[in-house]
Amino acid sequence: MPKINENFLKIPASYLFSEVARRVNEYKSANPNNNIIRMDIGDIKLPLPAAVVEAIKKAADEQLSVATFRGYGPEQGYEFLRETIRDNDFRARGIDIESDEIFISDGAKSDTGNIGDIFSTNNRVAITDPAYPVYVDTNAMAGRAGEINANGQWSNLIYLPCNFENGFTPALPGIKVDLIYLCYPNNPTGATLTRAQLAEWVAYARKSSAIILFDAAYEAFITEANVPHSIFEIDGAKEVAIEFRSFSKTAGFTGTRCGYTVIPKQVIARDECGNNIALNALWNRRQSTKFNGTAYIIQRAAEAVYSSEGKYQVKQLLDFYIENAKTIRNGLQRAGFTVFGGINAPYIWAKTPNNERSWDYFDYLLTEHNIVTTPGSGFGHCGEGYMRFSAFGKKEDTDEAIRRLIAMYRNSASMH
Ligand code: MLT
Repeated sequence: MPKINENFLKIPASYLFSEVARRVNEYKSANPNNNIIRMDIGDIKLPLPAAVVEAIKKAADEQLSVATFRGYGPEQGYEFLRETIRDNDFRARGIDIESDEIFISDGAKSDTGNIGDIFSTNNRVAITDPAYPVYVDTNAMAGRAGEINANGQWSNLIYLPCNFENGFTPALPGIKVDLIYLCYPNNPTGATLTRAQLAEWVAYARKSSAIILFDAAYEAFITEANVPHSIFEIDGAKEVAIEFRSFSKTAGFTGTRCGYTVIPKQVIARDECGNNIALNALWNRRQSTKFNGTAYIIQRAAEAVYSSEGKYQVKQLLDFYIENAKTIRNGLQRAGFTVFGGINAPYIWAKTPNNERSWDYFDYLLTEHNIVTTPGSGFGHCGEGYMRFSAFGKKEDTDEAIRRLIAMYRNSASMH
């Protein structure tokens, strides 16, 4: 009889957003007529930009003719998209990244989860707490996390607490670590690192020979000038950082699926004999073995994000969600919540009233007000007592949710 990977038995039975969906579906089947407003998983509600859909149609039509039909593409992505990304996301910002340092994928979730394949299970890993659950879960699956305790924390992971006291920005690790996951603008807290703060992390990584796994999936939501869009804006980062990007939230690709990972050729790690190994080559080896590339049609769709119509249409989407975030942030404040984030990020991080536990408050908002949020504790122990509100909803739903929350606040105030 084959044996399973025992690490899967140690992780919580279901993934955070699957558990949220399970509770919502259960409630929905019992209350089919209720108007439930989803502010949980960051799933976009507005349709794809027209330029993207046009590109999909054109690329689909190409598949009808022998001359333009595409079979297997390059595992790393088509050069047309890699060069477009290089020019627009990096060179236009004065960052010198080569197209063969960019690997196209089906999204940042897969890449942040899969990147662990190229690292030893003996590495010591630092992860912010709270964090996007993929980082912790995939390290646990790989056997790099050790054992889980009653707080849901793993014995071998080094947690970097992000809390009210430190403004949701972590302190540098107190002990030697090998890999550091950072996500800025942050999911779930919406916090940012300024250029100066990120430079401290890069300096730390250089000094201590660590590698930063930088998730920049939300960079398009940055509204403030001193917040870097890419870790490669920081001098010296090209030797110590890998960056993950996504079209999901930027251009409405949550269902279309496309993202990319940047691994500069200078980033190295050691083998057991102490030899330097370039991670770009290792990831290339991993991808060409386990991945046959993102669909040609989808890569053409991603390319269209950078056309002049595409840029204009994407800006409309982003402006809409940024405005939604502002509505939620202000509305929650009016409803008596203490809130964070929502300025350079599509997520608003709110303290639960009276320190209620996150899942209890999740159930309360779902069943009493038909509003679905994500419980902060699902992102880590330090998220306990917080809720995350996503700004990716429709305007009328956002306004209605805020109206309900303000009414809830007025009712509770009139009872005291
Ligand atoms: C989130 O809500 O945190 C994200 O949408 C999840 C994801 O990107 O996989």
